[in-house]
Amino acid sequence: MDKYAVFGHPIKHSKSPKIHQAFARQYDEQISYEAILAPLEGFKESVNTFFASGGKGANVTLPFKEEAFRLADKLTERAKLAGAVNTLKRIETGELLGDNTDGAGLVADLLRQGACLENAQILLLGAGGAARGCIFPLLQAGVSCVVIANRTQSKAQTLAQEFSQFGKVVDCGLDNISNVDFSIVINSTSSSVTGDIPNIDPIHIQKCVFAYDMFYSDQPTSFLNWVATYNSSAQLVDGLGMLIGQAAEAYSVWRGKYPDVTKVINAFKQGSL
Ligand code: ATR
Repeated sequence: MDKYAVFGHPIKHSKSPKIHQAFARQYDEQISYEAILAPLEGFKESVNTFFASGGKGANVTLPFKEEAFRLADKLTERAKLAGAVNTLKRIETGELLGDNTDGAGLVADLLRQGACLENAQILLLGAGGAARGCIFPLLQAGVSCVVIANRTQSKAQTLAQEFSQFGKVVDCGLDNISNVDFSIVINSTSSSVTGDIPNIDPIHIQKCVFAYDMFYSDQPTSFLNWVATYNSSAQLVDGLGMLIGQAAEAYSVWRGKYPDVTKVINAFKQGSL
């Protein structure tokens, strides 16, 4: 049976084993997929042991995505640009290929929800690893501009400088966002984890068609609740679809098949997974 795993610390609450088993069932395939708690100082050894024992592929989650980037023998273009790896695959030469499917998962989810990315003006809140991973995929999907607004503007500036070779990318602080009608606002900050919201003027979300929070929980996130109080027509989307979308991309990297994401999202929402 083909062996896969997800590495993280902590890892107990990872949904990846259930998601990948649900994908495998769609094809009547049998795979093994375990959640492995790698020691904070022992990620490399943990991964090497797994692949030496016949592992075909692995997902990598917090806090090891940058370490996985350094560990991979080869990198896909999107992993190079993300500066982080969430998917490892053992290729024919025995080497480890590092990929990053997070941004593709976000774009796929936005499109699945009916968002129009062509020529869209995007407000991206946050400038951490999550933001970095989605800028190139958004530009590739045809958006006209990504405005990166971050509490610490210098971090947004670094990202904007790096990615402006691929399209229009502009930086600002949370308090000097330009007066543009953004059609899509994406919260990539970790503020929802603590029930916080990025401190921006509501004027910037009042005209948006989509508000997307990369965070996911059983309850609506603090950011989406906040948007709803100022914009009753915006479609509010949390990060569940992105989570399942990045997993579907990883499954296709490993097994050459792109599973039905909607089925698995619905199963999660209905509590049957
Ligand atoms: P990740 O890899 O998940 O993106 P990160 O690299 O730690 O995590 O980045 C967290 C992001 O959330 C940063 O952009 C951070 O802003 P700063 O760069 O100013 O620290 C942002 N962030 C976290 N909490 C926030 C809050 N309460 N309000 C606004 N931004 C917040």
